[in-house]
Amino acid sequence: MPGKAMIVTIVVGVVSVLYAYGYLVPLTRVLMVYVPVNVKSTIAYYIDLSDDTADVKSTSDRIFTKDELWKYRGEGDIYLAVLGQVFDVTKGRKHYGPGGGYEFFSGRDGSRAYVSGDFTEAGLVDDITGLSLTDIRGLDDWVKFYRKDYTYVGKIVGNFYDAAGTPTTAYREYEKQLAAAEDDKKLTAADYRRFPPCNSESAQGKGRRLWCSTLSGGIQRDWAGLPREYYRPGTTKPRCACVKDVGPPSETSSTTTADNNKGDLDNPNVKVYPGCDPKSISCSFNDF
Ligand code: HEM
Repeated sequence: MPGKAMIVTIVVGVVSVLYAYGYLVPLTRVLMVYVPVNVKSTIAYYIDLSDDTADVKSTSDRIFTKDELWKYRGEGDIYLAVLGQVFDVTKGRKHYGPGGGYEFFSGRDGSRAYVSGDFTEAGLVDDITGLSLTDIRGLDDWVKFYRKDYTYVGKIVGNFYDAAGTPTTAYREYEKQLAAAEDDKKLTAADYRRFPPCNSESAQGKGRRLWCSTLSGGIQRDWAGLPREYYRPGTTKPRCACVKDVGPPSETSSTTTADNNKGDLDNPNVKVYPGCDPKSISCSFNDF
């Protein structure tokens, strides 16, 4: 029978070898599944089992101050930031380098200007308060663009991240707005499918014509509908929508299809255009 001292020596030896070859932490992580909960915390106390590869991006993030980022413009490496995220755009020197059309974005976070188009010093700021949901989506598109086409480098301390690289309240607010913007996009798409925009043409002296077809507003469908003034809920300005009219009930149709055939003509958000035959597929106005 081996003595207690020998068993301890063997265990210490095995653990040391595993540690030396880097197998200790991964092996322990696997074995932890079979270990009782109370023993787990004791083991975790002695061996750091945190998975630092999972967070490698944030721990390797470089945090820039405004002054530091400002150095990355001109003839050397060129960096810029959108929504506090810094990208190396050196390969796009023709845009961002001296004399380039978008040189003003270099060395700073000019998030607001990406959607406002105000490229003055007052416009090239990271304050994005009061932007529309469309603008918020636009900013998200720009971040996706830079992540795809350029190299992510780190974060800049400012409106979106603090000195530890932690997202600020403003960044959390942006995330909420982006989620709302995505919802709004889906609702708008659904609204356009149900109330497709009318075709329209106007010519000086000839007036204006609004009409419906099975592809008006870019929405392909098997009904044309009738032109109506449509007030989308929550809006005050109407637009012309092709409103589904009552179709003849098909003999093979189920109840659901028959219901669909009721159309939307009695929808409270639609109004007949003054001066237009309510049954006409086309309305002409001489309002010039
Ligand atoms: C809010 C307004 C605008 C912003 C923020 C903006 C921003 C940018 C940026 C950042 C680039 C460089 C993309 C890259 O790294 O590859 C770019 C390229 C370009 N932009 Fe704009 N742009 C705006 C409006 C316009 C308008 C109105 C036009 C046309 C009249 C235009 C024409 C172009 C063209 C042609 C390029 C590509 C240039 C090339 O590849 O040589 N941009 N834009």
